[in-house]
Amino acid sequence: MLSARSLQWFYLLVLLSVTTVLAAEETQAANDCDWYCWVEKKINSLEKQVDKITKLLFPDVDNNTSTSIDDNAPNAPTGHPRYPSSFGAPYASITANHGVAKLISRPIVTVTPTGRTPIATSTPSEPKPDVQARAGYRSLAYFGNWDIYGRKYFPQQVPAEKLTHLLYSFADIKSDGTVVLTDTYADTDIHYQGDSWSDSGNNVYGAVNQLAMLKARNRNMKVMLSIGGWTYTNTNKHLDTPASTAQGRQAFAASCVDMVKNYGFDGIDIDWEYPQNTTQGSQFLAMLTEMRSQLDDYAETLVYADAAGRKTKPHFLISMAAPAGDTNYRLLPLGKIAAVLDFINLMAYDYAGSWDKTSGHASNLYASTSNPLSTPFNTYGVVNAYIAAGVPSAKLNLGMPLYGRAFTKTRGPGLPYDGIGDGTWEKGVYDFKDLPLKGAKEYYSKEAGATFSYDNSTGMFISYDTLNMALRKVDYIKQNKLGGAMWWEVSGDRTDKGSIITNVVRGLGGSDGSGIESSSNWLAYPDSQYDNIKNAYSH
Ligand SMILES: *[C@@H]1O[C@H](CO)[C@@H](O)[C@H](O)[C@H]1NC(C)=O
Ligand SMILES: *[C@@H]1O[C@H](CO)[C@@H](O)[C@H](O)[C@H]1NC(C)=O
Ligand SMILES: *[C@@H]1O[C@H](CO)[C@@H](O)[C@H](O)[C@H]1NC(C)=O
Ligand SMILES: *[C@@H]1O[C@H](CO)[C@@H](O)[C@H](O)[C@H]1NC(C)=O
Repeated sequence: MLSARSLQWFYLLVLLSVTTVLAAEETQAANDCDWYCWVEKKINSLEKQVDKITKLLFPDVDNNTSTSIDDNAPNAPTGHPRYPSSFGAPYASITANHGVAKLISRPIVTVTPTGRTPIATSTPSEPKPDVQARAGYRSLAYFGNWDIYGRKYFPQQVPAEKLTHLLYSFADIKSDGTVVLTDTYADTDIHYQGDSWSDSGNNVYGAVNQLAMLKARNRNMKVMLSIGGWTYTNTNKHLDTPASTAQGRQAFAASCVDMVKNYGFDGIDIDWEYPQNTTQGSQFLAMLTEMRSQLDDYAETLVYADAAGRKTKPHFLISMAAPAGDTNYRLLPLGKIAAVLDFINLMAYDYAGSWDKTSGHASNLYASTSNPLSTPFNTYGVVNAYIAAGVPSAKLNLGMPLYGRAFTKTRGPGLPYDGIGDGTWEKGVYDFKDLPLKGAKEYYSKEAGATFSYDNSTGMFISYDTLNMALRKVDYIKQNKLGGAMWWEVSGDRTDKGSIITNVVRGLGGSDGSGIESSSNWLAYPDSQYDNIKNAYSH
């Protein structure tokens, strides 16, 4: 048996040889492979190596590195209803990636392979000019920091020119209110092609750097940091403590300002799933109010005169992911919350799933009267409830799924089922881009305002929005004067002509004259602790 010390040496040795191998690979990559191909290779080989090292060093660490959901995991939600939303939350799996990610990050950031020159400079291109301000519909999408692993979806692939807002998820919260990024490797450390290995100073890489560069090229896309989500706020209740005291809320708000200031975000999205009683509902409002106040105070310090001599300053955004289940939203002072927030992202999906006794529609517009069991929730009812509670319709963005929820061995919606299928990444959940599955036919229920696929040879029913359904929702958004469309989650979309994001944005930009919102993101972060964010752009 090796001693702990010799294990450490062994570990270092392996890491060094891994990086040397990668260095050689990179030269090759520059010739015959574009950037993501290169990154893919790099991640694949690192994953394999680190897997082995992890198993050797930490035999107790979860062996699963795939993003599969295990409904028997200790942190899996129990009972009905787990509505909404899982947010596709990898509630049983993300920790596995974390273990790996932390290990990978070390060789990449700290070991500079010898004899290697950076392949390009990390100096961002000249930013595009500000966009003309114009009110209009929003198009927002969540982008998960785990997307770069199994899904192999990288920040550079985000359809930035189609989005008014990107919600980068998820950050976690410590009990003293401090906000923390959750995956060092994905968030700040991974070096993409074009990132230098020999910069001087204190620089940030990973998604943070890529998103900053995307912002410079796509001035209408505001990037917000999304804090919370199912795992951190429901499984682990990490917002309960900081939200419960004035001191905790102040510390949390100050930390939100730090995240914006250091990483170059345009604002903060909060996904608390969910305040459990009206006391926590009021604490949530108080927390958002404190955030508003501290972000505004910080914005005051960034006042500058533009080329025409006009005084200008940023408006940092605040939004929330809002529940569609009445047992959750009735605990929130929605009218007051809406007054503090820039907008509300309604999680109008996950209406049905593995937690239900019968199969059902997961993102339907209406309640079915002929088959009520097939529609446990409906968007029409939720939207009306929010508006009745004092939320201006224009602040309400309609959440739409870029995935489907499956039920197997069923005769159709509203009927018993047995199993939920393997899913693309997690059990029971299929990416929109993989649907319909081979052998299945697509159907539309006018009564429920829902589409689904069904395979009559296997009895698999999958509830999801087809492109046509998404376009019907465009009409719904316009007719009800909602604020726009939001998606969970960007990696699930198609990239061809059938892309939901592309077509919905075109639909929202068309006919009724309102079009897509136009307002510039913010690029100057003079107080960032990172030299490359701080020095990238100034006014
Ligand atoms: C992980 O796998 C190794 C063998 O590959 C096994 O010895 C170890 O017990 C496993 N650990 C867990 C937590 O399952
Ligand atoms: C993966 O993890 C789950 C618990 O998180 C465990 O039940 C399952 O057996 C693991 N699978 C493998 C292949 O180790
Ligand atoms: C509200 O819910 C929280 C979290 O479950 C709990 O700690 C607190 O005691 C509850 N407060 C009231 C007044 O019920
Ligand atoms: C299943 O669907 C196919 C194609 O639509 C059809 O030809 C066949 O009759 C159906 N079978 C059953 C058992 O309904």
